[in-house]
Amino acid sequence: MAGRIPQHFIDELIARTDIVEVIGSRVPLKRGGKEYKACCPFHDEKSPSFTVSADKQFYHCFGCGAHGTALGFVMEYDHLSFVEAVEELAARAGLEVPREGGAAAPAHPNDELYIAMERALLFFRQSLSGEPRAREYLDRRGLDAEITQRFGIGYAPARWDGLLNRYGTTEDERQVLLRGGLIIERNRENARPGDAPGFYDRFRDRVMFPIRDTRGRTIGFGGRVLDSSEPKYLNSPETELFHKGRELYGLFEARQATRSLQRLMVVEGYMDVVSLHQSGVTYAVATLGTATTPEHLTRIFRLVGEVVFCFDGDRAGRAAAWRALENAVGEVKQGRQVRFLFLPDGHDPDTLVREEGAEAFEARLASALPLSDYFIRELSSRVEMTSVDGRAKLVELARPLVRRIPSDVYRELLVTQLAEAVRMSPGRLGELLGGDESPGRPDGQPPRHAGRPLLGPSSSAGRGNLVRQAITLLVHHPAAASGATAADIEALALIDRPGIALLAELLAQIREDAPASTAALLERWRDRPELASLARLAALECLVADAVQATGELRSAVSRLIHEESPAHRLDTLLAKAREDALTDQEKLELQGLLRTKGQSGRAPPAK
Ligand code: CTP
Ligand code: MN
Repeated sequence: MAGRIPQHFIDELIARTDIVEVIGSRVPLKRGGKEYKACCPFHDEKSPSFTVSADKQFYHCFGCGAHGTALGFVMEYDHLSFVEAVEELAARAGLEVPREGGAAAPAHPNDELYIAMERALLFFRQSLSGEPRAREYLDRRGLDAEITQRFGIGYAPARWDGLLNRYGTTEDERQVLLRGGLIIERNRENARPGDAPGFYDRFRDRVMFPIRDTRGRTIGFGGRVLDSSEPKYLNSPETELFHKGRELYGLFEARQATRSLQRLMVVEGYMDVVSLHQSGVTYAVATLGTATTPEHLTRIFRLVGEVVFCFDGDRAGRAAAWRALENAVGEVKQGRQVRFLFLPDGHDPDTLVREEGAEAFEARLASALPLSDYFIRELSSRVEMTSVDGRAKLVELARPLVRRIPSDVYRELLVTQLAEAVRMSPGRLGELLGGDESPGRPDGQPPRHAGRPLLGPSSSAGRGNLVRQAITLLVHHPAAASGATAADIEALALIDRPGIALLAELLAQIREDAPASTAALLERWRDRPELASLARLAALECLVADAVQATGELRSAVSRLIHEESPAHRLDTLLAKAREDALTDQEKLELQGLLRTKGQSGRAPPAK
């Protein structure tokens, strides 16, 4: 794991960088006295109020107040994270980014691979101008020069050795092209009699779509035939750079187009993305010939709070939509919106947006089905809703999915809606869906210490503090996460309290890729709205000195949180509050719900 970038390096980098050059290469600057001026790239204006000072190495807009260093500018303007911006400026200054802790910077074992991909991109783009058939094809598909250039679309010539002759003249070069998936080695299976041993180009006579990572580096390609031969699309194989279950085609371009993205639309094809962007729907991305994976969703929700899956109205489209739903249920939380848009049969986004224009196309978004609606509609269509058997079947189909929903509130809403559809009481349905699992602990054990409240019943504020305390511990001592088990994290995720989702996510994240420091942890959150709160907590003084003590504190905070959320304890708390007449409206509803469940199940809540 890379350590943090040492501050002395940042200082050196700022010292070696000229902000006038950095901004000047992105925005046309005019000299005016001691400073440089331009129309501000961060807001709309007619007369320039954006100034760059070479003395102070600082930019400032008198119009919108934007200001910062060269590093800040590159982050804002190129939509880069701090680390990416550091790397960008370092590359420019010819510096290697060092990391603290001696552990070498993730040296760049893949540098030559990136270079090979860039060369291939160049080769394909140059080949496009030499092949009228390819240009005509793009014309016919309605792609203009600007969008072709924005997406780096090119053409792989109809030869076995186009790329090979250009960039694979030495054995070393060929090995790199091979690792990049750009050429294929002849062997017994794919050689024809008389073929000399050696290599040949993977992509031939295809329109080439570069697939870029979030920094805009080419990591793979998709190639489409010009006619109706098969396969229609050929994608790069999995390589060290390219993992198709992770990448979203068009994400780089979407982030370039919008300063702060709010929403992404996931479509199925390359052409759909390009065509939507050309029409102005620049938040479209596509998975690459695979279903939407949980990894895709994690990426998406790191960037935006809203995702709309857009599918063709045909059978294949509906099947793909259901797979997307199955992968999305584990990710639904408050503040995240997942919707499904079905297009009329026989249309894909490409054809539709060309036919009706961006405005009409975007108007369809208003009718996109929220995840819960789609869930219920789809399940009800699979069973005989009028029969008891059918409805029992529906419960069976729903159960595994409902259980994976991490948010209590969301799960309850869905169960209530589903109950209405099957004409059953929400309490009864909830019970059926829950099977005989204990509601307190997903690991099936009885809640710990139930009935022995550690915090007094009137201390619901204390509960909030406990969450905050646990998060503070983690921010200061990420290693303290080892104080929580995977089962604890699952149990936490089921609790519906402010900050709990953040706590559970932090724990899971740290377990997955142990950040070495507070800063490393914060860097993982740079794109997230929670960053500001985490940074505030990081700025506080931490009263716990070392990681060992922090781990112990965290363990106890987590177990208190989990046990206090057992229904039995919650009921006690609310009843005590009710006696003092101190319930909020929300809590009254919650209390009624708890009492009803208790009555209906005919058994006492699991207090021991
Ligand atoms: N796809 C693929 N391999 C194939 C066919 C399709 O990887 N042999 C992926 C591609 O990402 C493609 C998407 O699935 O863009 C959708 O395929 P399809 O609906 O067949 O094509 P369109 O995107 O409509 O392609 P076009 O409009 O170019 O015909
Ligand atoms: Mn199409």
